[in-house]
Amino acid sequence: MNILVTGGAGYIGSHTVKELTSHGHLPVTYDNLSEGHQEALRGGTWVKGNLSDEEKLGETLEKYSIDAVMHFAAFCLVGESVTDPQKYYHNNVTQGLTLLKVMLEHNIKLFIFSSTAAVYGEPQEVPVTENYPLSPVNPYGQSKETFENILADYQRAYGLNYVSLRYFNASGADPDGKIGEDHDPETHLIPLVLKSALMAENHSLSSQQSSRILKIFGTDYPTPDGTCIRDYIHICDLARAHILALEALSNGMKSQVFNLGNGNGYSVKEVISLSKKITGREIPVIESPRRPGDPAVLVASSEKIKKELGWVPQFPELDRIIDSAWKWHKGHPNGFKK
Ligand code: UFG
Repeated sequence: MNILVTGGAGYIGSHTVKELTSHGHLPVTYDNLSEGHQEALRGGTWVKGNLSDEEKLGETLEKYSIDAVMHFAAFCLVGESVTDPQKYYHNNVTQGLTLLKVMLEHNIKLFIFSSTAAVYGEPQEVPVTENYPLSPVNPYGQSKETFENILADYQRAYGLNYVSLRYFNASGADPDGKIGEDHDPETHLIPLVLKSALMAENHSLSSQQSSRILKIFGTDYPTPDGTCIRDYIHICDLARAHILALEALSNGMKSQVFNLGNGNGYSVKEVISLSKKITGREIPVIESPRRPGDPAVLVASSEKIKKELGWVPQFPELDRIIDSAWKWHKGHPNGFKK
């Protein structure tokens, strides 16, 4: 199939582009490179464009005879969404609506949506299943819930068939070590931990580096060690789930929502201590106040996607996830700018 991949030059998008190519599909990345990297593209072809550019979007859909759309292009930082909600609603909702409009004008009705565990807010019990009530605690999660509601309405009204994948914490890197996570600024835990390990190589930090010592955001959460618990999922397992969802949808599966995680929760302190073991390096930390918008515990039940689509994670263990990320960061200390 010919797949338009919005945000295909980003972290999750680029790993999925690679996976699409290896499954014989033609990915057409549509990205404005505001967050993505051209060097991350691993197959198919690409178009530089904004989601707001209806004309360019339409031309791209026609030129490449697009059959389905995977929509990764979105902002995804919980903390930033609290301080700048406009950015999140504009990009994640308004621009997404433009994409849907142009798709429908071209009679394209297969859509894979990047949703998030953040739609669940602060769950009272884990692991969280897809039926758990949605109650986001930050504008990022709210923007994704809103778009999920829009998709359900579009399904009923226009016959748009979609799969919404609620990602827990995407992490790790492709085992070939050539693509990985490279955000600017980086805010995610695992890359920051590994960057700290890289900086601490000689156990002597310059003053500029010590200002970047890893902060643990909150040590007073109601968890065993007081730090937040998350469910980390390997980026390649996440990417493969998109192919399964796409193929099932194109074979007539009805619109669905699936969680994607491993069902194991790890605290911030556990991630740091495992990373010390894997890297063999010191990782200096500073215990800091909570970061606004962070729920204490997010752990997925992914039984539904396992049962219905036969999804089997190949890298469910946190040490293999961190190990793959470490290989990427060691080989690309400056990300794609190397
Ligand atoms: N953390 C720190 N120090 C840091 C960075 C993060 O202590 O320097 C903590 C956070 O407070 C949080 C945990 O590490 O408790 C994980 O934080 P990340 O920023 O790596 O990831 P989030 O859980 O905030 O969010 C990620 C994605 C979201 C997605 C969410 C789903 O960025 O898009 O996972 O669980 F919604």
